[in-house]
Amino acid sequence: MVISNDEILPERKLPAADVVLEDGILRSRRHDDIYFSVDDGLAEARHVFLQGTNFLSRLEPHAIHHVLETGFGTGLNFLATWDAFRRGAPEGARLRYAAIEGYPLDTNIMSSIHDAFPELRDLCDQLTILMPPRWRGPHHLFFEQGRVELILLYGQVNAIIGRHDIVADTIFLDGFSPSKNADMWGEEMLTTLGASLAPGGRLATFTAAGHVRRSLGLAGLQVARVQGYGRKRDMTIAHREGAAPTQLTKRRIAVIGGGIAGVSVARSLQRLGALPTIHELPGGLGQGASGNRAGNQLPRLALDDGPAHRFARSAFAFARRETYASGSELGANGLHLATSDQMDERFKALAAQHWPSNYLQLLAPAEASDLLGFAHDRMALLHSWAGSVDVKDWLLARSSGVEVTNDKPNKAQEHVFAVGAGLPAMLQIGEYLPLQLAAGQISLMRHRPQSRAFNMALSYGGYFTPSVDSLHVFGATFEHDRCLDDLQPRTDGHHHNLDLMPQGLRQFLGDPDPVQLAGRVSFRASTRDRMPAMGTLSPGRHVITGLGSRGLTYGPYLAYLLATRILSLPSFAELDVLEAVDWERFQKRDRKKGLIG
Ligand SMILES: Cc1cc2nc3c(=O)[nH]c(=O)nc-3n(C[C@H](O)[C@H](O)[C@H](O)COP(=O)(O)OP(=O)(O)OC[C@H]3O[C@@H](n4cnc5c(N)ncnc54)[C@H](O)[C@@H]3O)c2cc1C
Ligand SMILES: C[S@@+](CC[C@H](N)C(=O)[O-])C[C@H]1O[C@@H](n2cnc3c(N)ncnc32)[C@H](O)[C@@H]1O
Repeated sequence: MVISNDEILPERKLPAADVVLEDGILRSRRHDDIYFSVDDGLAEARHVFLQGTNFLSRLEPHAIHHVLETGFGTGLNFLATWDAFRRGAPEGARLRYAAIEGYPLDTNIMSSIHDAFPELRDLCDQLTILMPPRWRGPHHLFFEQGRVELILLYGQVNAIIGRHDIVADTIFLDGFSPSKNADMWGEEMLTTLGASLAPGGRLATFTAAGHVRRSLGLAGLQVARVQGYGRKRDMTIAHREGAAPTQLTKRRIAVIGGGIAGVSVARSLQRLGALPTIHELPGGLGQGASGNRAGNQLPRLALDDGPAHRFARSAFAFARRETYASGSELGANGLHLATSDQMDERFKALAAQHWPSNYLQLLAPAEASDLLGFAHDRMALLHSWAGSVDVKDWLLARSSGVEVTNDKPNKAQEHVFAVGAGLPAMLQIGEYLPLQLAAGQISLMRHRPQSRAFNMALSYGGYFTPSVDSLHVFGATFEHDRCLDDLQPRTDGHHHNLDLMPQGLRQFLGDPDPVQLAGRVSFRASTRDRMPAMGTLSPGRHVITGLGSRGLTYGPYLAYLLATRILSLPSFAELDVLEAVDWERFQKRDRKKGLIG
């Protein structure tokens, strides 16, 4: 079997692996090297990486162990590590395994190559089902109720090391032979990578190349040459002196607010071993903006690939996986519909950037109309990873196992403020974290026979969802002058929501009568740069806010980043992305401009 990719791949796409699988041996044509030992890849992984770093004996009860691997390949090292972990980890231990990969393999190849290792079959099946789309950036996969997390960092190793928030207790270097793949073994990169090994941490690699050992030595590691596996005479191990930090995360944390943000923070804290409690007002989860019955998860469209867009893309991938895992998926696709000449041009410009086709794909009016089932006379962007969410189910499923209470939290306890538009009234921090509140009215209509099976998330300036409990949700108004207690839907709001619709959609729905529509009003909280915000306000007091109109898409990943910060764990996110969502960025910018002292 030969899988090749000879076209010149534009920068937005990750290059595909160019591999040949012959007689059970997987070879990269790009690097002219094999993925693992011809003798027995699993035995090699165990000898070089697991024994080479004393992996199992260094796990601590109730603590998190972080592994970093360069060259994820088929995932064999990950599976071998997970297998060792499930067999021998002490009680309460957790594994976070980050792996860098620049040329992700097709999952069919991964799966067939692992046929050689039947003892890993069940783990391999769990892995291949969850493999993420091949989009640059971090992808987080959770196994065993979050006790095992795989973080796939897709991109070139040189673009990742030194630019992401990485700390590891164990490092595996596995990037083809240094003589065949200089990119993976550059001296500067290795020294930076070695610097991310925590005190007491250990590193192993199959190579004994002199420059690799020297670079690791420059990173302050103690380096040794030991016996290699099989026909390889030598390999390298290294360690950093010092006592290993014990990352105990079993802390009680009060999360105030049970909307998308609060539930997502609690979920991430729980996965990382903490003990969160959600404190909501009487009435249950999702009383604020997160109480809309359905919502869309769509990517943010941007022509640049700056930190805001990279955050949005990672968050979108993260959020969609959370939705699949929670079983609250409504519909199977998402479409942005152009409604002006300007949008037609913008969509074409985006498509010309050659994004992966499952991220976005340009549809001509006729193609869009075919897919939609009604006439649309402009361009559209299809996002096959997008979709809609039954928000009520989503909140319930994602908070399962977390205590939810109406009691006020104990003042002495560690707090996360996740109160949406309630934040300015609760904390006087507007000077540092300026928030704008805007009311939004959605409209609800009973599905029509022709719309009952409609299964796409639509965005067109307004938005429309597939039906849930026989109701379509569409919206929304954007009102800055409404009082926080004015929650009564208005007929002019329904008019507005219908007027946002492209004509084809409105006709498809039988031109609904605004007077017959039901509705709901709630408030969004946005920051002045429209990016969300999270971080630590003061010791033991944390905040997550500013999700604006994108809580379902941004909330889960933002909450994950906050949870890692609260627990002092590496997030593996890009450093400039972390800055772009840090609540302190406004103060920093104002200080730079001399606006504050
Ligand atoms: C009309 C409209 C449509 C939207 N559609 C979409 C969409 O399709 N897709 C999308 O991604 N996003 C959408 N959004 C945005 C999304 O709904 C919000 O970003 C998200 O709900 C914000 O979540 P949150 O948890 O920060 O705030 P909220 O949902 O407002 O939650 C805050 C919670 O805190 C609780 N609380 C407040 N004070 C206290 C207190 N003192 N003690 C305890 N609890 C307290 C509240 O009861 C509430 O449940 C929409 C927003 C609006 C307004
Ligand atoms: C020897 S294989 C890794 C085998 C893997 N550890 C396993 O368990 O199957 C090396 C991997 O490094 C990846 N790689 C090579 N050069 C890279 C680079 N510059 N950046 C990121 N990944 C790279 C290759 O695509 C390949 O998957």
